[in-house]
Amino acid sequence: MRTGETADLEIAWPLSDSRLTIRPASVADADAFFEYQRRPEGQRYISRIPATIVGARAMVAERTSTAGELLCAIVVDGQVVGDIGGRRYRPGSLGPEPQAWDFRLGYSVHPGMWGKGVASGAVALLVPALHHQAGIRRIVAKVFADNQASIRVLVKNGFRLEGTERAAVLGRDGGWLDDCTLAHLS
Ligand SMILES: CC(C)(COP(=O)(O)OP(=O)(O)OC[C@H]1O[C@@H](n2cnc3c(N)ncnc32)[C@H](O)[C@@H]1OP(=O)(O)O)[C@@H](O)C(=O)NCCC(=O)NCCS
Repeated sequence: MRTGETADLEIAWPLSDSRLTIRPASVADADAFFEYQRRPEGQRYISRIPATIVGARAMVAERTSTAGELLCAIVVDGQVVGDIGGRRYRPGSLGPEPQAWDFRLGYSVHPGMWGKGVASGAVALLVPALHHQAGIRRIVAKVFADNQASIRVLVKNGFRLEGTERAAVLGRDGGWLDDCTLAHLS
């Protein structure tokens, strides 16, 4: 286990286009992440939200030191404006353990930067790197049906909607949320 590194995903960091850079996060990024994690407008569809800066730092420390976990900062003009990452895991099998890896993808963007193509650009950078550098076979994103901005980010990047579990998860407002599965195959 190595803090601040993504030792078991073989990706040549950073990933960059003309505007965005994605690089592995470290605990030093926790304050920037917490700046938007604590905002109510970004919390509606997120499961794990740190309540304090101490909790935010602990969460980053845990995620950056867990095998198979990836947590990256999304940087624009030298500022951390979001995060993207997820978890690598073995696909299911009815026989021997497959010698393949799948990946569960997630991301968030500072509300002050919404609607400027940040999440779309970050997914466009990370997905090919996961497939072609890290050897990931299938990338899965679970998105609540109400979260149309996130579904749009994924569909624009070639993810396909595979199914929707109806009224599957209890939302923070007490309503039941439909849970969509989208995936991208190598
Ligand atoms: C979802 C989220 C990451 C999108 O980030 P973003 O940087 O604003 O996304 P982008 O600007 O790249 O793209 C958003 C797309 O959704 C569209 N969109 C935005 N709000 C929408 C809505 N209410 N209905 C439909 N489409 C919407 C935008 O028009 C854009 O599509 P376009 O480029 O074709 O016009 C951001 O809203 C966020 O951080 N939300 C809170 C955390 C979260 O929900 N994370 C995802 C969990 S699965």
